[in-house]
Amino acid sequence: MSDPTDPTDRPAPVTVIGLGPMGRAMASVLVEAQVPVTVWNRTPGRADELVARGATLAPTPADAIAAGGLTILSLTDYQAMYDILDGSTDALAGRTIVNLSSDTPEVTREAAAWAERHGARFLAGGVMVPAPMVGTPAAYVYYSGPGDVFGAHEAVLRLLGAPRYVGDDPGLAQLWYQAQLAVFLTALSGLLQATAMVGAAGVAVGAFVPDALDTLTGIPVMLGRGEDMVGQLESGVHPGDLSTVLMMGATADHIVRTSEASRVDAVLPRAIKSHYDRAIEAGHGTDNWTALHEVIRPQPRPPQGDDS
Ligand SMILES: NC(=O)c1ccc[n+]([C@@H]2O[C@H](COP(=O)([O-])OP(=O)(O)OC[C@H]3O[C@@H](n4cnc5c(N)ncnc54)[C@H](OP(=O)(O)O)[C@@H]3O)[C@@H](O)[C@H]2O)c1
Repeated sequence: MSDPTDPTDRPAPVTVIGLGPMGRAMASVLVEAQVPVTVWNRTPGRADELVARGATLAPTPADAIAAGGLTILSLTDYQAMYDILDGSTDALAGRTIVNLSSDTPEVTREAAAWAERHGARFLAGGVMVPAPMVGTPAAYVYYSGPGDVFGAHEAVLRLLGAPRYVGDDPGLAQLWYQAQLAVFLTALSGLLQATAMVGAAGVAVGAFVPDALDTLTGIPVMLGRGEDMVGQLESGVHPGDLSTVLMMGATADHIVRTSEASRVDAVLPRAIKSHYDRAIEAGHGTDNWTALHEVIRPQPRPPQGDDS
């Protein structure tokens, strides 16, 4: 345990740039843990509460970076990082940047190279919980980039949530994050599809939602906690002895038609139905639903010169 009254025992200072809901939550957790925190935000007023609790508001991004050995960025995307730091690149030499903003893996790799050109060490990450859950036992954060940089800062990063280091390629944390968000965002849209369908028929949404949440939380059990699914994806063998693409594809069609009949948006059900239709066309009708993987995964490129 650190003793904040002993100057030799104080945690190293950390800078947080970007004070949206996520950046404020992270800075707040660090302040609470007695870490000396410097903040900077394009809209300075968003720092008021943190400053009242002991954080320091830096006048410029360069001053903010100079104040902390470690600078955490929490911005809408990576372009915001360039917008903020392009005029302050001299301040980057010898510093460590941990960018916890969302973007694509490719953009993240380019940013890591950009930071390195300016003499900074760079980690990328993705926070896997909403802002109010930062710093709680349920929080976890993906990181990727140089292992030694992650190791050097792991202890302070742990305050935000359990760190999950996924490799030295800086784009990997974003890939894990985006893939997780693909699960999350699709589930949220699926929930709203369902509530729109029952709502259109006059069913009280409040009566329906608990059952929908039971379906969501029941999925891990239905999937054998993922083991059955992983085995089928890895082997490419999708035994349809308990349910088939044909059976589930018929249901996908019923969801499209039910939505259309009540003038509920049917874009999402049609996209799902298209997975089943194409899997059936490819000969997977009597396989398990995991055979949809065969039409979703990257497809072989057509031979060169074949424009069809
Ligand atoms: N919120 C969550 O629950 C949550 C959960 C998981 C992950 N995340 C990720 O965490 C990151 C931050 O989330 P958030 O909810 O705090 O985002 P946000 O509300 O979009 O806030 C983003 C921050 O970026 C700044 N910003 C945006 N564009 C800028 C620009 N061009 N120049 C300078 N500053 C700019 C904003 O400054 P101003 O204050 O001046 O507008 C603000 O400080 C995002 O990448 C998000 O995907 C968020």
